[in-house]
Amino acid sequence: MSLDLKGKSFLKLLDLTPEQISGLIDLASELKDKKKKGIPHKVCEGKNVALIFEKTSTRTRCAFEVAASDLGMHPVYLDPNGSQIGKKESIADTARVLGRMFDGIEYRGFGQEIVEELSDKAGVPVWNGLTNEFHPTQILADFLTIKEHFGVLKGKKLVYMGDARYNMGNSLMVGCAKMGMHFVACAPEAYFPNEKLVAECKKIAEQTGAILEFITDPMVATKGADVIYTDVWVSMGEPDEVWKERISALLPYQVNKKIMENAGAQCKFMHCLPAFHDLKTTTGQKIHEKFGLTAMEVTDEVFESESSIVFDEAENRMHTIKAVMMATLV
Ligand code: CP
Ligand code: NVA
Repeated sequence: MSLDLKGKSFLKLLDLTPEQISGLIDLASELKDKKKKGIPHKVCEGKNVALIFEKTSTRTRCAFEVAASDLGMHPVYLDPNGSQIGKKESIADTARVLGRMFDGIEYRGFGQEIVEELSDKAGVPVWNGLTNEFHPTQILADFLTIKEHFGVLKGKKLVYMGDARYNMGNSLMVGCAKMGMHFVACAPEAYFPNEKLVAECKKIAEQTGAILEFITDPMVATKGADVIYTDVWVSMGEPDEVWKERISALLPYQVNKKIMENAGAQCKFMHCLPAFHDLKTTTGQKIHEKFGLTAMEVTDEVFESESSIVFDEAENRMHTIKAVMMATLV
């Protein structure tokens, strides 16, 4: 079945049909199988892709580079300081330059409007590698992982705990709405996704049978969950000053053993990573010294437990990003 994505950008899941999303997940699964069996799949031989990173990355950058190479392409990485973007050259000019040299462009950075403008002007597919508002390639990897563990997406209950107003909360809500899942944002009311996006997702849910809920009580929200998902409390680009307010608002939403037991034995723990689950990072150490916490959004016990599928999820970033590039380029 043709996904009808050739020549198109991949900017946010709102732009895709449920069939296109599930087609990308199936394509990723086929590509994963080929990779495991050592079957070559250099279907984009000779193409070049630019990878613009205005924020740092481990998974997304490596996923794009390895996937590009597996598809026979040459990736060029532009780091947060190593280009003229934004400082000496506008996004519109950058897009028109890169569009003349590359077959596709990945962008990680700040506002969604930047990646949308890049796509408008570049004349080649642009892929969103994370903006403040959305992280769509992450959701494809999450959904492939859920499918691998549960067999289906439809009807599965995913509870997102933490700051549900940002890229991960927003994108999971959109993805769950599109795929007919049961999405619960579990957070203080001020941390729920914005009303406009909620209204848009509720409309989608009417078509797909998805359930969308917004619950402040963690024990009510997590009951019977198939997946409990969380993310860092302070995202890239946010100032250090917000830590204090975030810790006091979100500590009751930490994913710990009590929450996982409340959900039930079927429940898997997911996190887009990186995660603050111990003191083995400089930020973790600083927060420990200032606020006395040994873990933040998830305890080490849950992170390291049998229920945690975070590294399956991280691996699947590569297979799903490969599917996105292949479907939009050939
Ligand atoms: N999950 C994710 O996007 O990780 P990176 O920030 O390492 O790319
Ligand atoms: N919300 C996080 C996601 C990291 C993958 C951030 O934007 O930093």
